[in-house]
Amino acid sequence: MHTTAKSLRHLAIIMDGNGRWAERRGLPRIEGHRAGVQAVRRTIEQCRELEIPHLTLYAFSSENWQRPAAEVSQLMRLLRRFLKERKKDLHKHRIRLKTIGEIERLPREVREDLQAAVAASREYDRGTLILALSYGSRNEIVRAARQFAEKVKSGQADPSELNEETLAAGLDTAGIPDPDLVIRTSGEIRLSNFLLWQASYAELWFTDTLWPDFGKRELTEAVEDFNRRHRRYGKRG
Ligand code: IPE
Ligand code: IPE
Ligand code: MG
Repeated sequence: MHTTAKSLRHLAIIMDGNGRWAERRGLPRIEGHRAGVQAVRRTIEQCRELEIPHLTLYAFSSENWQRPAAEVSQLMRLLRRFLKERKKDLHKHRIRLKTIGEIERLPREVREDLQAAVAASREYDRGTLILALSYGSRNEIVRAARQFAEKVKSGQADPSELNEETLAAGLDTAGIPDPDLVIRTSGEIRLSNFLLWQASYAELWFTDTLWPDFGKRELTEAVEDFNRRHRRYGKRG
């Protein structure tokens, strides 16, 4: 049977388990992150095949800054290499790159590479790849609230104008539809500060598979499972 993802406009993935994948093989954690990049490549390709318009990947959380400096810098290096290696492909398939999170906290070289890649793909419209980097949902909501408060302070807005729509317009995800499906790998059943506002009505899908082992068969399974679900949004079914 040919799988399609007709009502799946936005897939978001918490890519977890790289470290454990490496540890189980007696390898340094960085090897797990490297293998994780291959899983990212496969996933982007499959989302294109399935015609899923928006894909968000949780690549680095606000809390991940608390990891050892060596691991953080290895991850930053991998990110730069990923951008360099995927550049042609994103261009070829006209995929727009966006980021969410506190990008200004990233090292300057990484930030510059990212900004260049985002700018170069601005006009593309066949799909959107959103990288969550230095991203934390609570921090994002606080920044949006602060932005609105500044507008009130300067007389550009009135407190009564703050509602779900105007708050969402200040989030990093402004203009991107809410995720329909959130997948987390590695057996952890939690959101870890990911898209808390946006995933209010997302379908959740968990697997024990470690991120580097996540492949096409499993994504197909998740999408087929999603296709069978009934989304009621609080209404009668
Ligand atoms: C996910 O893998 C990648 C990042 C969080 C950057 P982990 O590095 O969290 O892997 P585990 O959870 O330790 O196995
Ligand atoms: C969540 O994974 C963040 C990313 C996948 C980037 P973590 O490994 O950081 O989450 P916790 O610590 O298990 O909650
Ligand atoms: Mg983890």
